[in-house]
Amino acid sequence: MQVGLKIWRYDATSGDRKLKEYDFDAPDEATLLDCLDIVKDRHDGTLAYRKSCRMMICGSCGMRMDGGAVLACKTRMYEIAQSGHVPVISAMGNLPIVKDLVVDMEPFWEKMRSVDPYLKPRYDQAQERENVIAQAKMDVIHKESLCINCGCCVSECNSMESDPDFLGPAALAKGFRFVGDPRDGATVERLERYSEEHGLWDCTRCYFCNERCPKGVDPRDAIAKLGAEAMLHGIDRDMGARHAKWFVVSAKTTGWLRETELVPKTQGLVKSIKEIKFAMSLLTKGKVPLPFPPHVAADVKESRALYDLVKAQDRQGALGVVQGERAMMHLEHHRESGEGGRHPYDEPGSAPRPYLPSEKDGAEEAVTS
Ligand code: SF4
Ligand code: SF4
Ligand code: FES
Repeated sequence: MQVGLKIWRYDATSGDRKLKEYDFDAPDEATLLDCLDIVKDRHDGTLAYRKSCRMMICGSCGMRMDGGAVLACKTRMYEIAQSGHVPVISAMGNLPIVKDLVVDMEPFWEKMRSVDPYLKPRYDQAQERENVIAQAKMDVIHKESLCINCGCCVSECNSMESDPDFLGPAALAKGFRFVGDPRDGATVERLERYSEEHGLWDCTRCYFCNERCPKGVDPRDAIAKLGAEAMLHGIDRDMGARHAKWFVVSAKTTGWLRETELVPKTQGLVKSIKEIKFAMSLLTKGKVPLPFPPHVAADVKESRALYDLVKAQDRQGALGVVQGERAMMHLEHHRESGEGGRHPYDEPGSAPRPYLPSEKDGAEEAVTS
């Protein structure tokens, strides 16, 4: 197939940055990483990028295609090339560029180190026999254990863009990998640490990390689980935690968000006094409702019934967090497609099923079957 790539080249010593276009022949089964290898081997040996395993496991080849983070070795080029589209390839975001597509991962590792990414066992001494844990208990952290430290989530994180000190999706997902581990004995210490400034409550819930993670870790869901565990352990001093709690009270009592009381409930009375002038100007322009009498939704019973249902299920902490659909799709991938099962390539809008060059003539059926 004929492939076109536009690659952002960057020279850290001179600061030169330019977009260079390459056109070349590649085998039909080539991935983006294979295509970069062809460019480097046959057209321009000065191109810099990282790679190692070529099989989506080492996490080295994170980069951006048309502005979104991808693993180059997971990205097949056939359909893109057939459509005639020439994608723009650039280095990952939120990390300093060293050269071309290579970023400095040190800020990533610094955050990772700061969450103590290792088990702190409950027991002081090694036991005589191995510590056997039920599979169901380990399933709680199955998704978080899939992380390959590629940095694709960090590349897309809106919070990190505005606050480089934010712990970020990868480090927080790693944090939940140990908070959720039944063998770990530092749960409260960890939750205290992760709930500090620049911690879990600074996530803006944009869900880009879930969208871009190539391994189905869904870091945003991990952050939600950390928040739920922090609440369960009474670690709710942060404004973000108080903000979330008021949403629950609002939904339960009125079925609406009680916005007028949101600021004092989140920031505390003293801090909110400073906002009175602003609040009065909103009030006079009809932008906020008076808190009394409270505005109760006509169908508030439904909202209360939902609250009661969740309480009755008694799914405490992280177990109460419902995984996103995308996450479920990744998990289903490991099961046989059959009655009641789903296949990741059967869903409307899902990725087309990959096929081998020998299947080329039947490619159309393979993609749609
Ligand atoms: S959901 Fe939170 S952690 Fe994930 S990319 Fe958005 S701001 Fe970052
Ligand atoms: S959470 Fe996903 S995107 Fe982020 S570093 Fe791990 S594997 Fe990569
Ligand atoms: S080269 Fe290892 S993940 Fe792509």
